[in-house]
Amino acid sequence: MEKKAIVLACDHAGLDLKNVLHAMLEEKGYSVIDVGTDSPESMDYPDLARPFAKEVLTRKIPGIILCGTGIGVSIAANKMNGIRAALCHDEFTAQMCREHNNANVLAMGARVLSPEQARKITLRFLETAFAGGRHERRVKKLMELENHPQIDENESV
Ligand code: RB5
Repeated sequence: MEKKAIVLACDHAGLDLKNVLHAMLEEKGYSVIDVGTDSPESMDYPDLARPFAKEVLTRKIPGIILCGTGIGVSIAANKMNGIRAALCHDEFTAQMCREHNNANVLAMGARVLSPEQARKITLRFLETAFAGGRHERRVKKLMELENHPQIDENESV
């Protein structure tokens, strides 16, 4: 059986949590592609978006991205075509973002969640499959938004 794989990334604020999740995921048999940062030095979370998305999209595997609140990294990751990043604070939203939104990236805030909460959210995210059905159409429409990113001030909506 092919080994399960996952991409991890964090800024300085997410480093301790990334180390916790890295260890847990390896224990669960995941091959972890860790794109950093590996330093507690302050860094700019938008710089994570491209290297992180490259691994998620080319390997076609899920990713987890972390910062202090999870907000910055989720915004940054969602700027990358093909990424559907969901910022989750609990197991319910982790489950829903897989079932309904087919999220391929989980974003979390290391200053928001305890390591135990983050572990549970991660497992729920990885355990849950996309539900398909009516959600297929909605996710397809979601991805079509990438083709028309500019708002034309004269367009009628
Ligand atoms: C870093 O201080 C912090 O701004 C960052 O980790 C993140 O929370 C941004 O959204």
